[in-house]
Amino acid sequence: MNWRIKPLDEILANAERRSLKRSLGAFQLTMMGVGAVIGTGIFVLTAEAAQKAGPGMVLAFIISGFVCAVAALCYAELASMVPVSGSAYTYSYAVLGELIAWVVGWALILEYAVAASAVSVGWSKYFVGLMDRSLGIHIPEAFSRGIVEGGIMNVPAATIAVLVTALLLIGTRESARVNAFLVAIKIAALTLFVALALPVFNADNFEPFAPNGFWDGTGLGIAGAAASIFFAYTGFDAVSTAAEETTNPQRNIPIGLIGSLAFCTVFYLLVSAGVTGSVGSQPIADAAGRMLAPGTQEFAMACQLPQNLQQVACSGEPLAHVLDLLGWNKFSQLIGLAAFLALPSVILVMLFGQTRIFFVMARDRLLPFHDKLSTVHPKFHTPHILTMITGAAVTVFAAFFPVGVLADITNSGTLFAFLTVSLGVMVLRVREPNRPRPFTTPAIWLVGPLSIAGCGFLFFSLPPATQLTFLYWTLAGLVIYFAYGFRKSPLAKSE
Ligand code: ALA
Repeated sequence: MNWRIKPLDEILANAERRSLKRSLGAFQLTMMGVGAVIGTGIFVLTAEAAQKAGPGMVLAFIISGFVCAVAALCYAELASMVPVSGSAYTYSYAVLGELIAWVVGWALILEYAVAASAVSVGWSKYFVGLMDRSLGIHIPEAFSRGIVEGGIMNVPAATIAVLVTALLLIGTRESARVNAFLVAIKIAALTLFVALALPVFNADNFEPFAPNGFWDGTGLGIAGAAASIFFAYTGFDAVSTAAEETTNPQRNIPIGLIGSLAFCTVFYLLVSAGVTGSVGSQPIADAAGRMLAPGTQEFAMACQLPQNLQQVACSGEPLAHVLDLLGWNKFSQLIGLAAFLALPSVILVMLFGQTRIFFVMARDRLLPFHDKLSTVHPKFHTPHILTMITGAAVTVFAAFFPVGVLADITNSGTLFAFLTVSLGVMVLRVREPNRPRPFTTPAIWLVGPLSIAGCGFLFFSLPPATQLTFLYWTLAGLVIYFAYGFRKSPLAKSE
């Protein structure tokens, strides 16, 4: 079989010719990474992790942080060698060939577009809470939850998705300065939370530590929580999408990737320890004592019972809720305000990343109607058709699905992309040992397999329904590839 590998030198030469302005340094890149990473994961999915793992969620944060760290080390090597747009899709094209690149690009749609929906839903939770707490406006559940969670439509989530799409259409690229400001808000909010929660730390809250065990095969347990909370760490690879706009990318991209990840990990561990240590994070069960999966109607109903109303696992805005329970109502409003202001920038980064990846795939002629899709708006200079299609899909998912389900689907795509990148680094070490490597993954024969094993482990710890969704999604992608890209790509023509 011909794997249709796109020569690395060709990719690099192409990028060189088109050269965008290089203006981002290591600090801005790290800020960009932190800006894309801290979002719905820590602000909202902490509740989901509590339901899945109980106090063991601290361990879940450590496990998924570790998997991300080894994957980031692999990512950094490829990103420094191939500092061009398109991220894992482009690396795969150069290393593993067109078919794998297509499957990865297809999986990246889950990573970026579905993530944008997930963060929109996460944002809506804080919006609803903020309206309630600060202005006394109660938005009925029918209009603040998707149909899967027992509502009709999540209107705030759909609205924010439309607004962010509109911003992208007119060409708003979040400026480094705005990003730095929003990052500062998020860090201030998390610092405030830790400063208020840790002083009332009570080790008794960690008993029982793992009420759902480690792994139960249905997505509950510490492993299931790690697989879900993985979402909180994703986004650091957005740094690599800016490779063509970075000064000294060989040095700065690895710093940006690993620096932002390390920074967020420290905060996440402190926040999750703060949640459990201060008010506890035990999961809730139904009348028969059966643990419930978050995001289901049964779970939503159990959360209405008086004994469960105050549980962290039931809260849509767990960090604000913990501060409420501790009696810091004013500060809880501030946390809500921080999430309200800062989460839309995560949606922006994700949507932007998605349009960029689509753009590169269309440029490679792998997408049907690629000419039409990659049209650039005459006035706004943005790929407006791609942006509108992506925005419409993101809005629909945000309107109807629960945040946890969307986050899990995102994770399946991301884990697959990370796994492929880790494999790619090792393949390239063997195939082209002498090619310059500005950043070399340390101990690759240990770190690479650990990353592959870790991503595989988290993937199989996702709920079975998510794994199945990923399978169907990939099959659909393969059908499209063989029906179109396989015949139409420039590499097919040269064969
Ligand atoms: N890591 C990002 C978030 O948690 C996607 O919102």
